[in-house]
Amino acid sequence: MNRKTRIFLPVIACCLLFCAPAPAQNNLALTPPMGWNSWNHFAERIDDKTVRAQADALVSSGLKDAGYVYVNIDDTWEGQRDASGIIHPNEKFPDMKTLADYVHGKGLKLGIYSSPAAKTCAGYEGSLGHEEQDAQTYAQWGIDYLKYDWCQPTGSLEEMKTAYTKMHEALKKTGRPIVLSLCEYGWHKVWEWGPAVGGNLWRTTGDISDQYRVMAEIGFNQNGLEKFASPGHWNDPDMLEVGNGGMNEDEYRTHMSLWAMLAAPLIAGNDLTKMTPYTVEMLTNREVIAVDQDRLGKQGFRVAQEGPFEVWMKPMADGSKVVGLFNRQRTIESITVDFSQIGIKGQALVRELWLKKDLGTYTSNFSAYVPAHGVVLVRIKER
Ligand code: GLA
Repeated sequence: MNRKTRIFLPVIACCLLFCAPAPAQNNLALTPPMGWNSWNHFAERIDDKTVRAQADALVSSGLKDAGYVYVNIDDTWEGQRDASGIIHPNEKFPDMKTLADYVHGKGLKLGIYSSPAAKTCAGYEGSLGHEEQDAQTYAQWGIDYLKYDWCQPTGSLEEMKTAYTKMHEALKKTGRPIVLSLCEYGWHKVWEWGPAVGGNLWRTTGDISDQYRVMAEIGFNQNGLEKFASPGHWNDPDMLEVGNGGMNEDEYRTHMSLWAMLAAPLIAGNDLTKMTPYTVEMLTNREVIAVDQDRLGKQGFRVAQEGPFEVWMKPMADGSKVVGLFNRQRTIESITVDFSQIGIKGQALVRELWLKKDLGTYTSNFSAYVPAHGVVLVRIKER
């Protein structure tokens, strides 16, 4: 090896690991993952029986047919390690493999949760020092998705990259395709290095809660991150709160529209066994889901703002533009999108996605009255 090669090889190796945009891990998550997670509604009150009931409801409610396939168990499933270090679930989950078989039998996939720390955020057993063993255990159980949650008050960029790479490698070694969901609250601009450490998605924020103020702050703050999203690699502004009861219908419609425009993972966080018709309709509107799942994989962004009125646009694979007119104030207001703001010339067809209704042909601009804290979501196609 000559001197130059000796100097540059480590640099190249390092770059391959940390700088180069990695291809989608095992071709997974080519569109944003869709499913359900236990945390937002059940937190620690989750067990085998509840997960089965949620899987049943995912199918019977029509959510599965609309694309929701991951059934993700969040924190508090973990029990103790045995003498050889193998992790076992606690008494709430008698047999993870049987549960995975049950979920798979319904055409769904099973997700699980851990942390690179010694303890998870809720104080249960983490994966520190057992990464390979845990990955093997998950693969033996038939796990399809891992949310790997930092759960430490701080951490340097290098520590995070090392920890996430370790689990990515461990998962890869199992040979089982497992989606890797990074959760470190957006620290150290995770969107810049998430793909290089094997992440299919990465949380960009702290925890969501079931309040308009929190949801709106998280959602609208995603503007600017659009260049980091692509098939296999998604910004994750946290799970959905739709149906949990803390927001009104217009606010939940804003939540769902914004997440779809952001090409965010659509992970329902409500009790699927107790849904009102409007919750089901909101979670399963095919035209809104198609915005999220568009194969182009472009994340939407803000094109105009006037105080509490925001206009967002998401480019779609068929050349159309999805536009969200968002009203963040407490009274109804008319909002306009100028076609020049979204790169459309002349006449265009406008379709309302929540009403699933063609509104007709418009020239130069489109205006609509938008309810308080609400949205009008349209798909605009140049004629
Ligand atoms: C953190 C995560 C949440 C949830 C809890 C579980 O707060 O951000 O999404 O997973 O931990 O303890």
